[in-house]
Order: sequence, then structure tokens, then C-alpha cells
Amino acid sequence: MALAFLTPFTTWVADSPVSVAIGNSKIITPAVQCVHILAVSVVMSAILMMDLRLLGLVGRDDAMQMSSRRYLPWVWWGLLVLFCSGASLIIGEPRRSLQNPIFLLKMSLLVGSAILTALTQAPFGHDAGFWQAPKHRYAAKALAVASLILWVAIVLCGRWIAYTQE
Ligand code: HEM
Repeated sequence: MALAFLTPFTTWVADSPVSVAIGNSKIITPAVQCVHILAVSVVMSAILMMDLRLLGLVGRDDAMQMSSRRYLPWVWWGLLVLFCSGASLIIGEPRRSLQNPIFLLKMSLLVGSAILTALTQAPFGHDAGFWQAPKHRYAAKALAVASLILWVAIVLCGRWIAYTQE
């Protein structure tokens, strides 16, 4: 299914000198893919540690805020690397992603996950023990499970893009 509204932009990117240069290089795309997948592992590891702490399965002796302080910077910096490497992959082969509905699904899930992560962290600004309070414990677990499902779906979509080419 071609995403018609993105076709002019896709064509403009594909005809740009940068896209042609990346496309003609034998090393840029594989190298950037390696960076992308390494950043995926960093972000997923940090998310997993924060969500397992929310679920009460690891680090129970530490305050939840400690686990966020420790792992959250890895998530945001990792996302920055993913954004830059992802942009380079798009410019190199714009039709593979910009004309692919799975890519749009991945980006939508990513926005949802980033919002969920920000919402989970927000209470720590005024109450370090917010999610540990008995009345918030089930909400904390639900947020952690939703977060894990969303992030795994993003990884699956990233891989799935390669198998949904026209
Ligand atoms: C931040 C913005 C992001 C952009 C613009 C982006 C873009 C891309 C692009 C263009 C591809 C290549 C797809 C293909 O041609 O087969 C890709 C692959 C992939 N992405 Fe992303 N991505 C981003 C973030 C993420 C995140 C957050 C994750 C997961 C946590 C992720 C996981 C993957 C995976 C697993 C692949 C497959 C790699 C491979 O098969 O070599 N991406 N991404």
C-alpha cells in the first residue's frame, strides 16, 4: 500500500544528492544499521530495568526514583542516536520506510511509548515514592506492562519493515 500523501516528499528525498551518495556507498547503510541496532539494545535494556523495577521484580531495596535516575538518561540519549541513525537510513532508502505503513505504525508506537515513559516519570518531580504508595501499585504495574508491550512492538515493527516491501 503506497502512502500517497508522502509520495512527493519521498521522491524529493530520493532525488537529493545525499540520498544518492548514501545509496551508492557500500558501507554507510550497514554501518548505520549496526549503530541503530546497538542503540536499540541500549534503550531496551534501560526500559526493561525501569519496568522490572516498577513491577517490583528487581532492585526492591532501592527507591524507584533511583532506578529512573540511573536508566532514564540512557533512554533519552539512546533515542537521540536512534533518531539520527534512523533518519540516515530513511534518507539512504526513502521508499523502504516512508512508503511503508509498518514504518508509520512504528513511529506512532514510538510517540506513544515516549509519552508513557514521560507520564511514568512525571510524579517523581513532586513525590519520590509516588508509585510505591499502596494505592498506586497496581497502576505502576499496569504502566510497566503497557510500556514493555509497546517497546517490544516497536522492535518487531522495525524488523517487519524489511518484509513489507512492495
Ligand atoms: C527514533 C526514530 C527512529 C527512526 C527514524 C527509525 C528508522 C528506522 C529505519 C529507516 C529502519 C530500516 C528499516 C528497513 O529498511 O528495513 C529501522 C530499522 C529498525 N529499527 Fe528503527 N527507527 C527509529 C527508532 C527505533 C526504535 C526506538 C527502535 C526500538 C527500540 C527501533 C528498532 C528498529 C529495528 C529492530 C530495526 C531493524 C534493524 C535491522 O533489521 O537491521 N527503531 N529503523
